[in-house]
Amino acid sequence: MLTIHSASGASPPLTMTQLEDLLIYLNQFHQVDLTGYKRSTLMRRIRIRIQQIELENYQSYFDYLQQHPDEIKCLVDTVYINYTYFFRDPLVWQYLADQVVLQMLANTAPNDPIRVWSVGCASGEETYALAMLFIEALGVEAFQQRVQIYGTDVDSDAILQARQGRYLAHKIELVPPALQEQYFERRDDVHYWRQDLFPSIDFHVHNLIQDPPLPHIDLLVCRNLFIYFTEAAQLQALVRFYLSLEDNGFLLLGHVENLITAAERSLFTPLNRQRKVFTKVPGAHQKNPLLLCRLP
Ligand SMILES: C[S@@+](CC[C@H](N)C(=O)[O-])C[C@H]1O[C@@H](n2cnc3c(N)ncnc32)[C@H](O)[C@@H]1O
Repeated sequence: MLTIHSASGASPPLTMTQLEDLLIYLNQFHQVDLTGYKRSTLMRRIRIRIQQIELENYQSYFDYLQQHPDEIKCLVDTVYINYTYFFRDPLVWQYLADQVVLQMLANTAPNDPIRVWSVGCASGEETYALAMLFIEALGVEAFQQRVQIYGTDVDSDAILQARQGRYLAHKIELVPPALQEQYFERRDDVHYWRQDLFPSIDFHVHNLIQDPPLPHIDLLVCRNLFIYFTEAAQLQALVRFYLSLEDNGFLLLGHVENLITAAERSLFTPLNRQRKVFTKVPGAHQKNPLLLCRLP
């Protein structure tokens, strides 16, 4: 039986069997499906949670969980890691601005709509940053007429925060001062996203593993989420992205994320491997219809 301890041995032990049983319990009794997350991540996060509430071992935690229904949400919040900030990995954002956005505009007629999806957007920083790139390229008026940006996350608290568009200084540190001035109103130490630019940005709760993908997307950004997913969940998500994207659509993954399997590589081709930008391979699903069976 595999038991994973921390290096110091101080964390409460949790066996693989206990973890799998917990996943079944959460799924069957609380409709919470965490089976798509890497077991190593789940182990680590659950042990952290057990320590936070100062319980000695997993069995006492499981008893606690059954007696405190609110604990389900706390556990899930521990697994959904919302860490983010504006223009995380600046070279990627520079590449998006200089290459991808311009190529997208060149591919479309001047009045064509453009739809962008930021998946796993946490508190919205990535989504607002995408809006800035398109406004810089198109100007405010054309942006408002043509572009719709969707920010989605499984975590409803994160989505509520994202909708407020309200950020402390450390979150916007990498936003150049001229853009801070242009896109935010500052009151005391808080920066508020400009009111008139809200209608082009739509935040809502969406579970990438369970909910249908948004249609007709031209640029799909999903960064620092696949690192937490099992390989099976990654492939399932990529099939959804494939169906979501228009034939000439672009996909951006996180810095350490990759298309791992041959099936994944048959769906998308790299435009820039280093920056993790991919384009959809049109017709790939016709060559390999079994891929669509990856959808639940
Ligand atoms: C580390 S944050 C990444 C934020 C941003 N994309 C970035 O790169 O800075 C990962 C986000 O993915 C969300 N997430 C986790 N599982 C998800 C799922 N199944 N569907 C949608 N979002 C999910 C988490 O709630 C979290 O807000």
